[in-house]
Amino acid sequence: MPVDQKNHNGSDNSFYIYGGHLLSPESPSKYLDLRQGAIVVDGRGKIAGVGPLEAMRKRYPNAPVSDFGDRLILPGLIDLHIHLPQFTQIGKSGQTLLGWLEKYIFPAEMRFSDPEHARRIAHWFFEELARNGTTFAAVFTTLHWQSTDVAFQVAKEMGSRVIMGKVLMDRNAPPSLQDDTDDSIARTLQLCEKWHGQEDGRLLYSFIPRFAITSTEKQMHEAAKLWHAHPGTYMHTHLAESLEECVVVQKMYPQSRSYTDVYERMGMLGERSIYAHSIHLNDEDIKRLAQTNSSIAHCPSSNFFLKSGSFQYKRVENAGVRFGLGSDVAAGPYMSLFEVMRDANYMQGDDWLSPAECLYRATLGGAQAAFLDDKLGSLTEGKEADFIVVNPNRKSGIAANILKQSTEEILSSIVFMGDDRLIEATFVRGRCLFELESGLVTRAAQTYTGTHN
Ligand code: GUN
Ligand code: ZN
Repeated sequence: MPVDQKNHNGSDNSFYIYGGHLLSPESPSKYLDLRQGAIVVDGRGKIAGVGPLEAMRKRYPNAPVSDFGDRLILPGLIDLHIHLPQFTQIGKSGQTLLGWLEKYIFPAEMRFSDPEHARRIAHWFFEELARNGTTFAAVFTTLHWQSTDVAFQVAKEMGSRVIMGKVLMDRNAPPSLQDDTDDSIARTLQLCEKWHGQEDGRLLYSFIPRFAITSTEKQMHEAAKLWHAHPGTYMHTHLAESLEECVVVQKMYPQSRSYTDVYERMGMLGERSIYAHSIHLNDEDIKRLAQTNSSIAHCPSSNFFLKSGSFQYKRVENAGVRFGLGSDVAAGPYMSLFEVMRDANYMQGDDWLSPAECLYRATLGGAQAAFLDDKLGSLTEGKEADFIVVNPNRKSGIAANILKQSTEEILSSIVFMGDDRLIEATFVRGRCLFELESGLVTRAAQTYTGTHN
């Protein structure tokens, strides 16, 4: 990494130019497609300019340039639902949700009683997020508050951007994975006060009752009160993922109209709430999510893996509910959001989702669902410089001339054939968190042959 790039996330007024083929969503169907384009990143890691490379070079004649040439520069990918402690359990199949939790997930989460284990996995997890091109993730940890604290420390040190929090569960789980309700709320408050908004808003706190089966009404209710009392924080949980789960919830909460209604009665719906899965919903549920400005994390790869059912994409979209994509690792077998985008398309049977729409859901759509589209989700002046360098030629089978093709054809190739192999570099707030080959960004700087040097 060049010295300038490494240090440039300071408070000086330095600028840095990244050249390449810019592709950035403006809506589900409209993209900026700028070949030999550039983004200019300022000293605070914000995008100060977007335009043709030569024009940016003229406007900022003293700024160093890394020119990625034909490679794509895309906004960083947004994962609206993922579990850090489950990273070791990817690919453990053969069960539907409730059996899978018992057999694989709860034992793995128990190991997070050891904060050193949490530190090791958190390092690996955040490294992998960057390697997969994910620049923003809404993360579940476990119920262990020390390990959650450690996960925040690691995210802080590594430059990752997260919504994260301690998981709350005070019933229907192995004894070592059950909170004392009052203590869980007190610890949650401490963690929220310590971490929410840290690093100038790069670290955000979410309240996480795991789901209606493993939290008491008191725990959910108290969590919702804390959420309302702390502006900018999130509510994040699972909703209506499997039919088996929905039957259990119905028995546990006979007074509620539906699973969604359980959460509504607890005060958990509203802006900055994220409901993972949300598959088995009726019209009234979808309407309430829309009316309350609640958001959904659609996790198609996970839903295929656990055979949970199919998300009602068009009904949810037509109702105006905000939603983005989640990998839901480890029920989702891969972290790469390119693979999740593809699964979102495959899940819809007769309904055609365009590749443009799929990438939009993993970028600007996700940012809108998190109410952060003023800062994230596209390559736009004034937004944070969260971006990835993508080289479609890294994957065999992608046509050699892909980068000369139309916007639609390029999007189609990366959505239907993309995975982690395409990612050559990942930047969060202008800081390079991953480069595929050491020195890639430096070499791009040295090989820049602009006429204005
Ligand atoms: N529902 C409650 N907990 C979980 C979890 O860890 N993963 C998934 N996919 N669904 C859940
Ligand atoms: Zn999940």
